[in-house]
Amino acid sequence: MISDSMAQLLNSHLNTEHFSAQLYLSMSSAAGVMGLKGSASWFMVQYQEEMVHCMKFYTYLSSQGVLVKLVNADIPNEYGSMLELFEKTLVHEQHITKAINRLMDQAVKEGDHATQIFLQWFVTEQIEEEENDRDIIGKLKLIGDNGYGRLMLDNELGARVFVPPPTAAA
Ligand code: FEO
Repeated sequence: MISDSMAQLLNSHLNTEHFSAQLYLSMSSAAGVMGLKGSASWFMVQYQEEMVHCMKFYTYLSSQGVLVKLVNADIPNEYGSMLELFEKTLVHEQHITKAINRLMDQAVKEGDHATQIFLQWFVTEQIEEEENDRDIIGKLKLIGDNGYGRLMLDNELGARVFVPPPTAAA
């Protein structure tokens, strides 16, 4: 069993992960409109991964007997460049990392071992999320105004594939 306050915080974060999914779907559309088909595909994979994250929270809360509340959010969809897309992605992921850390702090404070174990996967995942974004931003800064370089990187990003978890909610 988890406390009402922990359940509320986890439910709120479930909605943040859902927001993340919609944000990246929106970025996929923006990249596609810019002619960046590889980036559009990369963001589509990111969308799919965020839905897995969202469902992890849903499954955990359901297993703890918590009634989940979903909320709607406005999703931004205006971006000026490939660099802006990935810089905003990194800023968003840094925000998520802080949110996960706050959840972990609360679970530790409450002596909630089950939630600490559940959150551990996300602590590790956030390291990879931020590293991926930093790598892409670094490459984009090296490329600068070179259109051919951007095209090559866009092609590279298009190679990313979604690897589904063992079950849809795993
Ligand atoms: Fe679900 Fe990108 O953090």
